[in-house]
Amino acid sequence: MSELVRFSVAIPDDLLMQFDNLVARRGLAKNRSEVIRDLIRDALVDEEWDDPVQEIVGTLSIVFNHHASDLQNKLDQIQHAHHKKIISTMHIHLDAHNCLEVIVLRGRSDEVRAIAESILGVKGVKHGHLTATTTGRYL
Ligand code: NI
Repeated sequence: MSELVRFSVAIPDDLLMQFDNLVARRGLAKNRSEVIRDLIRDALVDEEWDDPVQEIVGTLSIVFNHHASDLQNKLDQIQHAHHKKIISTMHIHLDAHNCLEVIVLRGRSDEVRAIAESILGVKGVKHGHLTATTTGRYL
């Protein structure tokens, strides 16, 4: 278990007010120190997954209209072509027309990003976002 170290930070008062609002939104279980630690970890993970040989586990969420011609087919083709890196897919029928797909990928950061980009680039995908965490392994 690491030792806790105290340090002081200079911050503009309006930014501190916004930060305190964020702390409040995160609920009673979190105080300033814990939220700062969360933000630092987020920043470090973001930096790590910039490293192309870092192994990451990514979650790609996409929304699309399944009536769009050939779209579901193209998405399936991409996913089958990368079946070793796509470890799970969840498909949710949002309404009569729209689908949400949550695709979990695991592999080298640069490869996972490239697969995500190819899925996001399929015509008809309305919205999408990749988030990732690192496993600490290098591939
Ligand atoms: Ni659907």
